[in-house]
Amino acid sequence: LSGYSQQALLIQPFRSVDREAVIELWRSCGLVRSWNDPGLDIDRKMTVQAGCFLTGFFEGILCASAMAGFDGHRGWVNYLAVAPAWRGRGFGREMMVRVEQVLLDLGCPKLNLQVRTGNEAALAFYAALGYSQDPVISLGKRLIDDE
Ligand SMILES: CC(C)(COP(=O)(O)OP(=O)(O)OC[C@H]1O[C@@H](n2cnc3c(N)ncnc32)[C@H](O)[C@@H]1OP(=O)(O)O)[C@@H](O)C(=O)NCCC(=O)NCCS
Repeated sequence: LSGYSQQALLIQPFRSVDREAVIELWRSCGLVRSWNDPGLDIDRKMTVQAGCFLTGFFEGILCASAMAGFDGHRGWVNYLAVAPAWRGRGFGREMMVRVEQVLLDLGCPKLNLQVRTGNEAALAFYAALGYSQDPVISLGKRLIDDE
């Protein structure tokens, strides 16, 4: 164990009191895009498997998030974020380990996730956690325009 990993990240389901802090975290991590309204994304998640939306606290500061879900066939995770000042301490790994456990508890056999083209840091992070590229092209179709 490294010195850092002995300091605990407190992981708990999202609470509405942390709404602004989570949105600020996502902004600081470059995860908010014009076509995604972060408040609406939180509202929607509160209606479906809200317990799979996790936040991570270190010394009382909200510094990590992960929004996961199981669709009955695959698990997915979005909004994985560790605040810039808290990176490199294993917190991202801890969040993903918890996500995997939450999905396993729901009977989920495989976790999929999407990484934006050009996000080489995230690709290196996921490779370190044992994720590999699937032979697929990710397609999407917007059903509700949030802009
Ligand atoms: C990706 C992110 C969550 C990683 O968080 P983190 O807390 O710094 O990651 P950890 O400290 O847990 O790192 C875990 C492993 O990934 C590796 N890793 C993390 N960031 C890395 C980077 N930029 N380059 C290479 N390897 C990296 C670490 O070396 C570590 O490997 P090890 O455990 O074998 O030593 C964080 O950088 C982030 O929030 N980025 C912006 C948002 C984002 O891109 N999210 C993903 C969207 S798909």
